[in-house]
Amino acid sequence: MERLDKILASQGVGTRSEVRRLIRTGCVTVDGVIVRAADDKLDPTAHHIAVNGKSVRYKKYLYIMMNKPDGVVSASNDSHVKTVIDILPDDLRRKGLFPVGRLDKDTTGLLVITDDGAFAHAVTSPGKKVFKTYRVTLDGALTAENIARLCEGITIDGNELCLPAQVGILNEEHFIYEMRICEGKYHQIKRMAQAVGRNVTALRRTAVGSLTLDPSLGAGEVRELTDQERLLPLSDG
Ligand code: URA
Repeated sequence: MERLDKILASQGVGTRSEVRRLIRTGCVTVDGVIVRAADDKLDPTAHHIAVNGKSVRYKKYLYIMMNKPDGVVSASNDSHVKTVIDILPDDLRRKGLFPVGRLDKDTTGLLVITDDGAFAHAVTSPGKKVFKTYRVTLDGALTAENIARLCEGITIDGNELCLPAQVGILNEEHFIYEMRICEGKYHQIKRMAQAVGRNVTALRRTAVGSLTLDPSLGAGEVRELTDQERLLPLSDG
């Protein structure tokens, strides 16, 4: 049971004071009856709430897939640079949303945004072995020995040991590789590449566990995860 104003604010209907005004002015109905008390308590899953006649479909948590564009930081707020939260459309904007793990400002591709902390932990904790898949363009070819070192678990910056990665060749001529890692160390792919004498010239995340980036999403576009996607096994080894 939760206060009506809190429920509406949590669903992105407006700020606490905005929703209180809506309630006071008779814009909110519960099971078809106008309710004017912001502190009325109810179970949002058991009642039909509407604002100005429009149903509020209660969702405890939101799960959003974004095709992160270049030039935007994966943080909840930043006073200087646009964040992935800043570019969300209004209908998916609500308090408490944050990106699951971080992509660099110049990394593009799959980013999940949610307000479900347990989900985020299950995806980002290295112990959960959720592999993140990247399309990595380098400034030159990897040798078989380079690939073997990355797959064994390479040491970066002299003392930071990475867990074994998985490396595949996507386009040898253009130095494009697929790398899969289950950690999220700072600039990890770029530093792994540097450890074998290469620089990353473009980086795109294409999958997180079994969740793959929807190819119909243009740069900066978002959609909610389907229930099926949200329940996909994240760990595949
Ligand atoms: N590794 C990087 O270097 N950058 C990213 O954004 C993600 C993984």
